[in-house]
Parts: sequence; structure tokens; C-alpha cells
Amino acid sequence: MTENDFVAPEEVSYPDSGTVAWKAPSNIALVKYWGKLPNQIPANPSISFTLDACATRTILEFQKLEKPGDQFSFEFFFEGKPKPDFIPKLNVFFERVAPYLPFLRQFHFKIDSLNSFPHSSGIASSASGMAALSLCLLEIERQLNPEMDALYFEQKSSFLARLGSGSACRSIAGDLIQWGKTPSIDKSTDLYGIRYPFEVHRDFKNYHDTILLVHKGQKMVSSTEGHGLMQGHPFAGQRFQQAHKNLERLQEVFGIGDLEEFIKIVESEALTLHAMMMTSQPYFVLMLPNTLEIIQRIWQFRKETGIPLCFTLDAGANVHVLYPQSVKERCIQFIQDELVAYCENGHYICDRIGQGARRMFPQPNT
Ligand code: DP6
Repeated sequence: MTENDFVAPEEVSYPDSGTVAWKAPSNIALVKYWGKLPNQIPANPSISFTLDACATRTILEFQKLEKPGDQFSFEFFFEGKPKPDFIPKLNVFFERVAPYLPFLRQFHFKIDSLNSFPHSSGIASSASGMAALSLCLLEIERQLNPEMDALYFEQKSSFLARLGSGSACRSIAGDLIQWGKTPSIDKSTDLYGIRYPFEVHRDFKNYHDTILLVHKGQKMVSSTEGHGLMQGHPFAGQRFQQAHKNLERLQEVFGIGDLEEFIKIVESEALTLHAMMMTSQPYFVLMLPNTLEIIQRIWQFRKETGIPLCFTLDAGANVHVLYPQSVKERCIQFIQDELVAYCENGHYICDRIGQGARRMFPQPNT
């Protein structure tokens, strides 16, 4: 597939108006995407678990414009209220996807989004938000072209989502999604996320992710700025190589269900991500004292009990605690007894691996 495969045919018979709605989940990267080239091309490959509970629901109403202009015509509501600060980001997104959705300038859009996770949880909603919006826009194209096959729909919605936010391309399907060209995975591509094509042991089919909300406010440095700082970063080359290598290592780990090796790769990826932040120019630190307290407690608990629980981090202070279903009760108990004290207002979110986005309207099979 190339970019050209995603250009929609020019169509004359658009409906005058309509409504579509999709719900898309968040995802948590195991091998991290950090650094990018122009056009939202990742500097290194990544892989993530698709989540379930943390999701964005978007309703998109569209109405044909009497006089289409050069500008995009849309309004954005978040949790029922107009949200003007999102308009510039959405304009950039519309500009980037317009070559692939030629109808965009012919309609007025009302975008209405809602997150299932608390508004100020410090959890990035760009992945689930951009995925839900991309699915809605592509749903309009599908209404004009009902023959569009399911795989193409999945690939193109991931392709569009990537143009909004890189990690969003991993928020379309479930349950393990890989993005970025890498030699060990034949069908891998920089253009969209693919379902992990190799065997995955059942221990990795029911993973849990308990998200400890260490800090719920705005981050000091955005992901987009952080990616930019990988340009000219003294360790960038080695880091990008390491990501390829870790994906290759994961193939056996997933196949045989090697939890010990899985933990080594995932925790090292999280710490490497933050090491890149601490060694960029300008340097910055997103972990907080409580992030480190939690990490220490996790290591101690694992050493004492042998329970395969581990952590990963996003570009922020919150800690994602990962563990398989078989040890769920023990892990939840440990989290409540020892880790919740380090969360802001004791808040945390229980999530788990999910199966990907779902169409809400028109309802499936109607
Ligand atoms: C640390 O996808 O938020 O979560 O492409 O600029 O929107 P943009 O960046 P974004 O970066 C996510 C970075 C990460 C790692 C990951 O999810 O792979």
C-alpha cells in the first residue's frame, strides 16, 4: 500500500446531510514511538496493547454547504461544550487528510466528543480522539462506497488517524497493534498500524493495565515537542536501532509466553523513553517523585512474590501497571495497599486489553 491507495474517488452524489458516530479506545505502547520525520512518519517502529475502558466517543453531523469555500467549516464540542482551543489542531488535521477525503471542504461538520476517562486525568486523549474522528470521516466515505472492504477501512482509518496523532493509528483495531516499518515484520509499514501478525501466547491475551494517576494536570512538554527534540539528539540513532531490536525480541517472547523477558523489554522501553527526554536539548523530566516511589515498590513486590507485574510510562508522570489475568486479585490488592497512596487524590483507572473501535451509529448490522 502507498499513500495513493488512500485517495478517495471524486464523488458527485453526496448525501445532503447525515450523522455517524464511533467509539475508539486509547492504547499503551510497549515499544515506544519517540521521534518522527515529516508527514507523521515514525522514526522507529512501535507496538501497543489496545485498551478498552479509556475511550473517546465522537458523534459527527455533516451538512452540505451551499457555497463551499477554501476553508474547512466545522465546530467542535467536548463534553457538550464548545472547545475553541482544539480548533487549530483540528485545522491542521483537516488540511493533512483533505487529499484523501475530497469531500471535506463541501460540508459543515459538527464534531461532538466525549471521553470515558476523567477530563483532567493527565491521560492523553489525542490517540482515542483522533482515531474516533478519523473513523467517523471515513464512515462518510463508506456511505458513498458501501463496497469498501473491511481491511481497507481499517487501514485507511488508521492512516488518517496517524496524520492527526501518530499513536492514534494504533487505536483502531485490537488487541496488539504494530506500527512502523521494521525488517522482522514483513507487512509492517510507516503508514498505518497493523494487527500483530505472529502467534501470541494466551498469557498476553488478557493483560490488565491499571493506570495510576500520579499527576492529573497538563504536561510541561507536549509529545509533539518531545518528538521534535529527537532530531539531532546525541543518542537518537542507537535508540531507533534498539526499538527495531526490541520488536524482534518480542516475537519469541509473545510466541512462548516469556513473561520475564517481556517485563525486561517493557520496563527498559519506558525508562529509555524518559532517558531520551532527560538527555535532549533542552532536557526535561516528566517523572515525579511519586512515579519513582511506585517503580521501586513494583520492583520490590516482584522480587518478594515472583508475581509478573511490571510498569510502563507514557510521556508523563502517570504509571501504567501491567499484569496478566491469572494474578489479577493479588495485583489489585497490592495496588490498593501500597500504590494508591502515591496517586493524586488516590485516583487510578482499571483498564485492560480491548478489541478496538466500535461503530455506534449507524448501529452495526442495520
Ligand atoms: C510517549 O502520538 O502523542 O505515548 O504524533 O505528535 O501526536 P504525535 O505524538 P503522540 O506520541 C506518543 C508518544 C508516546 C509513545 C507511544 O505511544 O508510542
